[in-house]
Amino acid sequence: MKAIVYHNYGSPEVLKLADIPKPVPNDNQVLVKVYSASVNPLDWHFMRGKPFLVRFMGSGFFKPKNGQLGVDIAGRVEAVGKNVNQFKIGDEVFGGANINGFAEYVSIVDKRLVLKPSNVSFDAAASAPIAAITALQALRDNGKIQSGQNVLINGASGGVGTFAVQIAKSYNTVVTGVCSSRNLEMVKSIGADNVIDYTKENFTKNQLKYDLILDTAAYHSMADYRRVLNSQGRFVMVGGSMALMMKLSLFGFVNSMYGNKKMGGMVAKINNEDLLVIKELLDLGKVKAVIDRTYPLDETADAIRYLEEGHARGKVIIKIS
Ligand SMILES: NC(=O)c1ccc[n+]([C@@H]2O[C@H](COP(=O)([O-])OP(=O)(O)OC[C@H]3O[C@@H](n4cnc5c(N)ncnc54)[C@H](OP(=O)(O)O)[C@@H]3O)[C@@H](O)[C@H]2O)c1
Repeated sequence: MKAIVYHNYGSPEVLKLADIPKPVPNDNQVLVKVYSASVNPLDWHFMRGKPFLVRFMGSGFFKPKNGQLGVDIAGRVEAVGKNVNQFKIGDEVFGGANINGFAEYVSIVDKRLVLKPSNVSFDAAASAPIAAITALQALRDNGKIQSGQNVLINGASGGVGTFAVQIAKSYNTVVTGVCSSRNLEMVKSIGADNVIDYTKENFTKNQLKYDLILDTAAYHSMADYRRVLNSQGRFVMVGGSMALMMKLSLFGFVNSMYGNKKMGGMVAKINNEDLLVIKELLDLGKVKAVIDRTYPLDETADAIRYLEEGHARGKVIIKIS
């Protein structure tokens, strides 16, 4: 089968299209013919081996251990292992985690897959696993989101942000999306009640306060975030500056001890229950994927190069079949 492979860390030039053996599913796995995959920042972190921390997270210390990339897929079941009961050949599915998704076929453990709603395209389904689950877990588990709250999403126009705006709205909250000028209309169109243009206004400097801030591009100081939280407010960092992530890990707990404001980072965990939540939100049309660009498999390097620039509007898709 055709797949994107890489043998050394580096810029997108290290990615090559190659013929490699089709994976063989074990007893708990499903073989999926991949129709669409989506690109995530995790892909370029693993491609570059940066930040260095990823090399301790299983990417390989000196060289890429796995040699393949791609964490989100949608496709059709081609074979099932003997312990797999919930899928049959021909089912349309989507899912994610470390599964070598930039390839014509993947073998994936059944718990990392769910059935794709028939009214949702393969591209839209492949957009969702990492980005939508990150948004869901950050809002629900870390943010303790409640109906009626004032929620601010910084980075509202990106992969995680576009899902976060819609998921926050599904909890009947008042959502403010922060993005650049060119994305204001798009962020309003997916449900944001208010928008702030970060190129013109710093949301940490105006007088408004929020019950929950989810930040995918967190570059302000802890004190700035703390100031714009309501007395019981929560700040959840999803992405942004490593320095802030370190400070939150070291001092977030201490900071939370003074008053009731809570501040911290999060790392998403892909699991079957939350894939089912996302499946239902997609099925009901409460959440729709925002797709910026699609690339063929042999142009995966260009897709990653584009995402790495940091200005994608929603998700970037690799179309495989
Ligand atoms: N913690 C976790 O488990 C987890 C999971 C997934 C992702 N992440 C991290 O979360 C971050 C976002 O992921 P993603 O998939 O959403 O990435 P993405 O799709 O590449 O995000 C790009 C978006 O970020 C916006 N942006 C860039 N700089 C900004 C700024 N200063 N203020 C506001 N918005 C800004 C861009 O808007 P403009 O073009 O308008 O600038 C663009 O729409 C990444 O750092 C990623 O590594 C973490």
